[in-house]
Amino acid sequence: MSSEAGVQQPHPLSRTPLGLGLVGAGEVAERHIAAAATVDDVRVAAVYDVRPERSTVPDFDALLAHPEVDVVVLTVPHALHEDLAVRAAAAGRHVLVEKPMATTTAGCARMIAAAEAAGVVLWVGQQQRQFAHVRAARDLLRSGDFGAILRYREIRSNHYGPGRPAWFFDPGLAGGGVSMLVGVHTIDRASILLGAAPVAVAATTQTPDGWRIETSADGELFFDAPVTCHFRWYSAEAFRHETTVECERGTLLLDPTGLTAGGRRVVEFDADREYTESFARQYRALVRTVRDGAEPEIRPAEGLAAVATVEAIYASAQRQGVRMAINS
Ligand SMILES: NC(=O)c1ccc[n+]([C@@H]2O[C@H](COP(=O)([O-])OP(=O)(O)OC[C@H]3O[C@@H](n4cnc5c(N)ncnc54)[C@H](O)[C@@H]3O)[C@@H](O)[C@H]2O)c1
Repeated sequence: MSSEAGVQQPHPLSRTPLGLGLVGAGEVAERHIAAAATVDDVRVAAVYDVRPERSTVPDFDALLAHPEVDVVVLTVPHALHEDLAVRAAAAGRHVLVEKPMATTTAGCARMIAAAEAAGVVLWVGQQQRQFAHVRAARDLLRSGDFGAILRYREIRSNHYGPGRPAWFFDPGLAGGGVSMLVGVHTIDRASILLGAAPVAVAATTQTPDGWRIETSADGELFFDAPVTCHFRWYSAEAFRHETTVECERGTLLLDPTGLTAGGRRVVEFDADREYTESFARQYRALVRTVRDGAEPEIRPAEGLAAVATVEAIYASAQRQGVRMAINS
């Protein structure tokens, strides 16, 4: 944009600090707020939740109309992402939508079209790629020091039990179970570390009697490369999250507190602090894209690809685990 005098003016929604309009003031929103407080270039301008006591504005339209909201941050149940993102984009606001991007690839495509039409940034919150151990592992694998990757597997728990939000158990709001809720993180991490998105999947899922969402899933992601990603997601109170990358010249092990590579501890952090920091890095990266026009660290198509993979997991599981192509 240029003024009459020919001086370049910034995009009106690229001033810093960028004003965030948070929609959904639940668990992850607290993390966003804590992270935003550590980033000079963003500030929380407004919050809307269906619970009025958690809101600073009366409704979503008021949040969209708020003069200091530059980026709408969607931290609501999965099935709400699509429509709210489309409305935010149509109102000319940038969008940061929590993972999974939407509950269907058609929904993701609609969001992408709305953002493109409005010329706004659409950022999917697959922020685990911002973790220090994921970044270090990616750099080590790219350096070639460990040689070719031979095997890749990830095991991850998620607790489906008392205290979890009711919508987690409702496929109409969650879009599915553990695969939608945390599987997208595994898919994103594998895509980052293996350097490509999966092209096919074979999986089985388990749904407890009387439940409507799967609480565990096992399977394999296939890439355009010999290596595959074995994954297992299950429900347990105890948190477990391990990624093992076996290479020709050593093994990389990512756990909740860091990275061991070739038997050496190369990254070590406090898990809770690093979790908040991953959101802060995401905000810094978002600012670089919105304000400076930097290449986004996640493209909307990557959010869509993760959802397409979950759709293929469900299609495979319905057919007793046959290999299914991923349509992204
Ligand atoms: N990136 C991560 O590591 C991470 C971690 C946790 C959750 N998440 C994602 O964040 C999103 C929210 O998850 P959560 O665990 O915070 O859930 P939550 O249930 O704790 O919070 C959701 C909030 O949305 C509110 N809400 C519901 N309907 C609404 C509406 N129509 N308008 C406004 N507010 C509404 C609820 O009242 C609640 O406060 C999900 O997409 C989830 O997958 C991401």
